Amino acid sequence: MNSKCKKIVITFGTFDVFHLGHLRILSRARSMGDCLWVGVSSDALNMAKKGRAPIYSEEERLEILAGLKCVDGVFLEESLELKADYIKRYEANILVMGDDWKGKFDHYSDLCEVVYLSRTPSISTTEVIERIQTC
Ligand code: CTP
Repeated sequence: MNSKCKKIVITFGTFDVFHLGHLRILSRARSMGDCLWVGVSSDALNMAKKGRAPIYSEEERLEILAGLKCVDGVFLEESLELKADYIKRYEANILVMGDDWKGKFDHYSDLCEVVYLSRTPSISTTEVIERIQTC
């Protein structure tokens, strides 16, 4: 990360079937600092977390995220247990998560500021997949 990164933001998610809710939270997260790192859930982690394989592979999701203007760097999140390691490795000052996770990451506040942003209403990967299936 370059020297303009005085305040580093980090966030995590699957970001499968990329949609407006994803773009909005990433843009808002980026605007809270100078640089944004995104931990993209691995295929195996997504399987464990959500009980289904993602539509787009981890390589595809990493490439989509890395191509966004508001994202400065991406990495694969291999385990939910490693969040503290990632926060330290990427020297994050702020952890941003959607408010579907509210309270769940408060224990990282000894490492960095923890902020929960409200989700964009009425859209999710699950909902998009269901919409396509009923077309
Ligand atoms: N997110 C958001 N608004 C939405 C959907 C997601 O702000 N409408 C945020 C989540 O809070 C999270 C990030 O985007 O911080 C990645 O969420 P992810 O779980 O990948 O997306 P969902 O669309 O919620 O996926 P799913 O339906 O598979 O649970």
